[in-house]
Amino acid sequence: MAKPTVYVVYYSTYGHVKTLANKIMEGLNKSGTVNAKLFQFQETLSDEILGKMHAPKKDEAVPVITLADLTDADAFLFGFPTRYGNAPAQVKAFWDSTGQLWASGALQGKMAGVFFSTASQGGGQETTALTFLPNLVHHGMIYVPLGYTHANLFALDEVVGGSAYGSGTVAAGDGSRQPSEKELTIAEHHGERFAKIVAQYHQ
Ligand SMILES: Cc1cc2nc3c(=O)[nH]c(=O)nc-3n(C[C@H](O)[C@H](O)[C@H](O)COP(=O)(O)O)c2cc1C
Repeated sequence: MAKPTVYVVYYSTYGHVKTLANKIMEGLNKSGTVNAKLFQFQETLSDEILGKMHAPKKDEAVPVITLADLTDADAFLFGFPTRYGNAPAQVKAFWDSTGQLWASGALQGKMAGVFFSTASQGGGQETTALTFLPNLVHHGMIYVPLGYTHANLFALDEVVGGSAYGSGTVAAGDGSRQPSEKELTIAEHHGERFAKIVAQYHQ
C-alpha cells in the first residue's frame, strides 16, 4: 500500500515558524512512514507593508498551497505565528476560501495538527492552536494533538515553547530569540509522532 501523504503548511513573517516547519519535515521523513512535502500560505500583505514590518523576503523555493493541493494530501501540519492569540489573517484568508471543499466534504476524515510561534511565553502558545480548531472541526477533519509526549514539554530550567496542542517557539518581542535546541527537538518529535499516527490509521 502507498504511504500516506502529509503536507506541512506554514505562514511565517520573520522565519521562526519556518524553522520549526523544516524541523517537523525532518521528523516526518525520519519516520519512514509517510511522504512529506512543504508548502507556505499565500502572503496577503503588500511589499510596502512588509518592508515597514522589517520582514525578510519569502522563500520562493517553497510552493504556495492551493485548494487543489488540500484535496491531494491525507494529513496536514499547519504552522503559524500568533496574532493576538489567533491565527494570522493570511491563514484565515486561505480557510475563508475553502467553501467549495467544505460543501463537497473533501477534507472530511483527514488528520491535522498545528504548530506555532509567539513573542512571549503567555502570548498564545495554547490559544493560537485552540482558536484554529473550529476550522478543522467544521471541515470534519481529525485534530491530532501533540499531548505531553516529550520530556522537553515539562522543562522548567529555561523558556520552552510548545504545548500539548503542538510544537512551538517563543520568538521574543523583537524576534531576536531563535527556536532553541529543546524546541527543535520537540518539533522533530512532533513530525515523527504525527507521521506514525497518520500511518497507523491510513487505509
Ligand atoms: C499584529 C501582530 C500581533 C501579534 N500578537 C501577538 C500576541 O498576542 N502574543 C505574542 O506573544 N506575540 C504576538 N505577536 C508576535 C508574533 O507572534 C511573532 O512575531 C511571531 O511569533 C514570530 O514568528 P515568525 O518569525 O514565524 O513570523 C504579534 C505580531 C503581530 C505582527
